[in-house]
Amino acid sequence: MKKTTKLFKKIIFFLKKKTNIDSQQIEVTSLDKLFIFYGTDKASNVKNQYDVNSKQIVGHGYSKFYEKHFASLRENKFDLLEIGTWFGASSAAFAKYFYNANIYGIDRNFKFKYKSKRIKFLNCDLTNYNDLTRLEKNIRGKSFKIIIEDGSHILSHIIKNLIFFLKYLDNDGYFVIEDFNAPKNYNYLNDCANSELFFDEILSNIKNKKYFNSKILSQSQQKYIFENIESVNVYKGIRKESDIAFLKKK
Ligand SMILES: C[S@@+](CC[C@H](N)C(=O)[O-])C[C@H]1O[C@@H](n2cnc3c(N)ncnc32)[C@H](O)[C@@H]1O
Repeated sequence: MKKTTKLFKKIIFFLKKKTNIDSQQIEVTSLDKLFIFYGTDKASNVKNQYDVNSKQIVGHGYSKFYEKHFASLRENKFDLLEIGTWFGASSAAFAKYFYNANIYGIDRNFKFKYKSKRIKFLNCDLTNYNDLTRLEKNIRGKSFKIIIEDGSHILSHIIKNLIFFLKYLDNDGYFVIEDFNAPKNYNYLNDCANSELFFDEILSNIKNKKYFNSKILSQSQQKYIFENIESVNVYKGIRKESDIAFLKKK
């Protein structure tokens, strides 16, 4: 994106009126209800967020897996980072669910429409070197308890995001990867033309600490992952493409 176009988008974004979720009184009965309320397809049952005119009901049904791993953290103070925010539905839901946590959200677009004292939106195209350098300055010294990968779902991006962000994860923190089989289910998301394993196989190798051929992950990077990941749990959500992984760091 040209520098002037980006600057213009940034200015429009900062001037745009946003919904202040801190003043919203919502009774939190479950994470799924929050996901539905704000409209993320992490929910079991939600309208298609990418097409406002659509009456289509979609949902991955990931709430129960998030609650299984993270319900015990609800009142804790920690930092959560989500890669891929779209208009901020999941960031808003997480801010309400984890009511003492700070939520950081990264996206290359400027559609984020919520604000809160505990939400920080970081504009960044993770495939752009200058953006990444700027992001590293912004999060230098930070360590997140939970990192969620819900970005482009392109195979090379999923692999690169794992190795790039793992160093920003707390010891005993969780790296969550949503829709990790999307490149297997949708050809257009597989940009690796047989040079990389699909991500379910990569996860299985991480679990078994077994080295594999990769043009993206060197042996030493694989070693780093093996030494730092203590457990890998994968779950099947509602839809064919609903696969989610929870990687726990040592
Ligand atoms: C699946 S959506 C996120 C949905 C959101 N997490 C939710 O639950 O409501 C994926 C997002 O990833 C963002 N994205 C795709 N490629 C990206 C990149 N290279 N850098 C940063 N964000 C990217 C898209 O702009 C899109 O908003």
